Amino acid sequence: MQVAHKNWPHVEQYLRHKSALIIPIGSTEQHGPNGLIGTDHLVAESLARKVGEENGILVAPTLAYGMSHHHLAFPGSASLSPDTLIRVIRDVVTSFARNGFSRFFFINGHGGNVSSIQAAFSDILLDHPKIRLQLASWWLLPEVTEQEKIFFGQENGHHATCGEVSVTWHLYPEDETPIKPGVAPDPETEWPVGPDRYRVLFPDGRMGSNPSLSTGEKGRVLFEIAQKALTDRLLKFLARDGSS
Ligand code: NI
Repeated sequence: MQVAHKNWPHVEQYLRHKSALIIPIGSTEQHGPNGLIGTDHLVAESLARKVGEENGILVAPTLAYGMSHHHLAFPGSASLSPDTLIRVIRDVVTSFARNGFSRFFFINGHGGNVSSIQAAFSDILLDHPKIRLQLASWWLLPEVTEQEKIFFGQENGHHATCGEVSVTWHLYPEDETPIKPGVAPDPETEWPVGPDRYRVLFPDGRMGSNPSLSTGEKGRVLFEIAQKALTDRLLKFLARDGSS
């Protein structure tokens, strides 16, 4: 159910019965010394594809770059400015809206995107009252945080978390890189911080996490919980005012 693997008559046919589109969005940024740089977009993309298949809803190509300014002191990270990200989201949504989609369900994998996504939504809705927009950030879903608490307690951390590292190891076991036990520093500080100060405060890139607790099996459990919770939110969103 991916737009990228359809032709336009397929999409036109889909739009005769449905108007919903799932858009995965993440980032390209360091995730500590053993986490994948693609973590945030890879996880959002995999969840989106599963949720799309399960519910017969098309999935747009992933927005793989996000607002990651604070990670730029680590090699391999790339970032969009908040205003660029707002414009990208607005242009993508209004493009799809112009050819018939009207309900957009964003599956987000990156905390730094949230304020820009919300700003973009406000901007779009001002001029397009028929569009419906919903943001679901998978790692913030209570079903997921409850299970992470059971698996990792406080050592899940806030960036390069045990949970997201576990999910990438479930999805990409060939990329699994173990790490020595130990919790990364997570000092109380001002926020946001710039890239150089981030690297001083969080020297290996992690924030308060101990990903030596991560396993692919825990990742499988978390992924399935997230998939179920996202399906629940998607169906509620689509049921709110009529057909999907
Ligand atoms: Ni992440």
